[in-house]
Amino acid sequence: MKLLVTGVAGFIGSNFVYYWRSHHSHDEIIGLDKLTYAGNLHNLEALSREQKGRFRFIRGDIGDIGLVHEILEKNAVDKIVNFAAESHVDRSIRDPQVFLRSNILGTACLLDAARDFWKYEDGWLPEKRFLQVSTDEGVRIPWPDRILYRKDPARSPQPVLGEQGIRRPSGKGLP
Ligand SMILES: NC(=O)c1ccc[n+]([C@@H]2O[C@H](COP(=O)([O-])OP(=O)(O)OC[C@H]3O[C@@H](n4cnc5c(N)ncnc54)[C@H](O)[C@@H]3O)[C@@H](O)[C@H]2O)c1
Repeated sequence: MKLLVTGVAGFIGSNFVYYWRSHHSHDEIIGLDKLTYAGNLHNLEALSREQKGRFRFIRGDIGDIGLVHEILEKNAVDKIVNFAAESHVDRSIRDPQVFLRSNILGTACLLDAARDFWKYEDGWLPEKRFLQVSTDEGVRIPWPDRILYRKDPARSPQPVLGEQGIRRPSGKGLP
């Protein structure tokens, strides 16, 4: 199986790679990351030589549709796991545009590319999966009854999504 893991040099993305490599050693991982201030390839340095063998890093932006298409075209990617995002909320007050570009438009770019390559007549190619991991930029809220609010809404006006915003396949839309 081949995975495209984005935001792979960040906190969760890099830990996901360690986890996946140690539990699914035969799978191949393509890691895509723009290496912003938050991304650091040192996070992946502890991968063993053997683990590095089936791991390839590409520096790039999830919002670069040409690059994303090229990756999907050249590789039979089975799963896309998107961790790439601007994640430091304080920075969104100073520069909201970069959040919109990466978290919204970048995610939309990945979704478009997945649809372009995985849509098959009326359905989807089997076994293809898109896992979107995010905090509050979810495309859709699957369980409205499970939105959680922090105890002091004055300090944290944002809803905290149940399941930390991890989307599960719903049978509608992308797999
Ligand atoms: N860390 C947490 O506790 C936590 C909790 C819940 C949800 N999340 C969400 O999970 C996701 C990942 O979080 P994290 O803590 O690993 O974030 P992080 O900031 O540590 O890593 C994000 C990575 O994405 C990369 N990136 C940013 N914009 C990019 C772009 N346009 N194209 C390609 N790469 C890009 C950065 O270089 C970085 O390596 C985020 O959506 C975050 O909001 C994080």
